[in-house]
Amino acid sequence: MNSFHRQRTPAAGVLLAAAWLCAAGGCGDGSTASPEAAANGAAGNGAAPVQPNERDTGRTGMLAVQSEPFGEVDGQPITQYLLSNKNGLAVSIIDYGAIVTSVVTSDKDGRRENITLGFADLEGYLGKDPYFGAICGRYANRIARGKFSIGDEQYELAINNEPNHLHGGTKGFNEVVWQARPLSNEMTEGEAVGVELKYHSPDGEEGYPGALDVTVTYTLDNDDRLRIDYEAVTDKPTVLNLTNHCYWNLAGVPPDGRREGLPTMLDHELMLNADHYLPVDETLIPTGELKPVAGTPFDFTEPHKIGERIGVLKAGVENGGYDHCYALNGQPGELKLAARVVHPESGRTMQVQTTEPGVQFYTGNFLDGSEANGGFEQHQGFCLECQHYPNSPNEKRFPETLLKPGEVYRQTTIHQFGVQLPGAGGAVKVSN
Ligand code: GLA
Repeated sequence: MNSFHRQRTPAAGVLLAAAWLCAAGGCGDGSTASPEAAANGAAGNGAAPVQPNERDTGRTGMLAVQSEPFGEVDGQPITQYLLSNKNGLAVSIIDYGAIVTSVVTSDKDGRRENITLGFADLEGYLGKDPYFGAICGRYANRIARGKFSIGDEQYELAINNEPNHLHGGTKGFNEVVWQARPLSNEMTEGEAVGVELKYHSPDGEEGYPGALDVTVTYTLDNDDRLRIDYEAVTDKPTVLNLTNHCYWNLAGVPPDGRREGLPTMLDHELMLNADHYLPVDETLIPTGELKPVAGTPFDFTEPHKIGERIGVLKAGVENGGYDHCYALNGQPGELKLAARVVHPESGRTMQVQTTEPGVQFYTGNFLDGSEANGGFEQHQGFCLECQHYPNSPNEKRFPETLLKPGEVYRQTTIHQFGVQLPGAGGAVKVSN
């Protein structure tokens, strides 16, 4: 198991001074502890350094963005950004892979725990991990046999998930260093703090045509919404499908690598706003058909426990469980409900809205307890990857994933966290 080797923030005196200024009201509702602290920020980038007590609790009691060093990749320093709000919700993001490393929320008794799968340090993310928390691209999900064409031009991509191309190839957007900029409350629309991450993908990278400039912006507000905005432009026609690959377990996931007694997520109740899903072949490529979910174990239009019917799938061709794209009801490009999740025991809830036409519901089928998988076992986390349909470049019936020069790719996906209090009659109280 990975040990906790995270580098610490600079001079303790600076941290204490910043903490004192905060305590004395020097932080106001702003997003940095003080000009001095900002100037001494971990990456010298305008975010205040994380205070020692806040690193563990994430509780700043206000909208704030802070930063701390998170190791190095090939001599490049990696920074972790901690977004927190007045309710104590805290989200950590690193500029390696634009990865969400933790999301800390309260349960119905006010117990604050991380609810997303990840590693305790950077080293874990540098191996071939299962895309924990990462931004996947240039084409998230699968392209059949790694081949597609644009006009008369044919392209061949790496086969990194036999016999297909998966999540951008050998070195996808989840394995590159992004240029990050913390966003204070004053720099965002409305009341929110965030981090903006930019990546320039050169023409021909991983076999994809066109130089692509991508911006991913994570923002957190006081209504417990974690919003992800994506934008991209290209200088040649290319294909593009971006997603975030967080694995969730609302029961709470210890951040320090302890896995003993960690429950699966099969008891979580899931609702998916989808009347159709995309059946797949034995290599997980959609057949092209949109199949009604009604009367099948794929029907989550009414809430069901994730584990309720998973055995039917495991006994069939879908040997590991759910790993399917659902065609969301509503219009692509329009923000709509994708999913609602309730974990009855902790009371934690999560609602997902997206502008994307689909959501890949994946039940962590390939998690095997290995070190590369952070020690997580099968079904200890699930993903709701908002995205376009897999293999769209080869499937004319699916919504277009071609991006041309002069066009702007845009996506917005919002996760809203909350707690459902017992006896609330199913009502969700959004608070942390
Ligand atoms: C996606 C895929 C899964 C699997 C995971 C990563 O969600 O749909 O089949 O490859 O990524 O392990």
